[in-house]
Amino acid sequence: MDRKTINVTINGEQYIRNVEVYMTLAEFLREEIGLTGTKIGCNEGECGGCTVIFNGRPVNSCIVLVNEIDGGDVLTIEGMSQDELHPIQEAFLEVGAVQCGFCTPGMVMSAKAILDQNHHPSEAYIRKNMEGNICRCTGYVRIMKGIILAAERMYGKAE
Ligand code: FES
Ligand code: FES
Repeated sequence: MDRKTINVTINGEQYIRNVEVYMTLAEFLREEIGLTGTKIGCNEGECGGCTVIFNGRPVNSCIVLVNEIDGGDVLTIEGMSQDELHPIQEAFLEVGAVQCGFCTPGMVMSAKAILDQNHHPSEAYIRKNMEGNICRCTGYVRIMKGIILAAERMYGKAE
């Protein structure tokens, strides 16, 4: 198996690791770095459970190879909160957007990517940008509410 040494920043910390080049980013995070908050559901880019932010954009980490992340910057769910929950996480809990919780890390990361780009997203905008995130429990209404509540708390109400 081909191996390569990669240098990547994850949640603000630098990691230099010699890895098998066909390892996915999701496997790298969970098995190599021990960050198991990123979930692997379908493992084929369909469910969004493994979403992380790579170089400012949301990606399905199960279909990104470590070979592609060398020199990059990754934000995972563990990097979202330090002592306190991130406002998106707080809002999700408050409106009941978390049931089994399996999809939640991916949902939170996608929501963060949306709010970084658009401080006052419409429901249609959120729906469009979250269509790759599947939830089998909540029916999405509360997730939508949670994102809008978080946006209001973080950036104020839309005009
Ligand atoms: S586990 Fe990556 S998209 Fe489903
Ligand atoms: S809360 Fe269970 S899959 Fe979304």
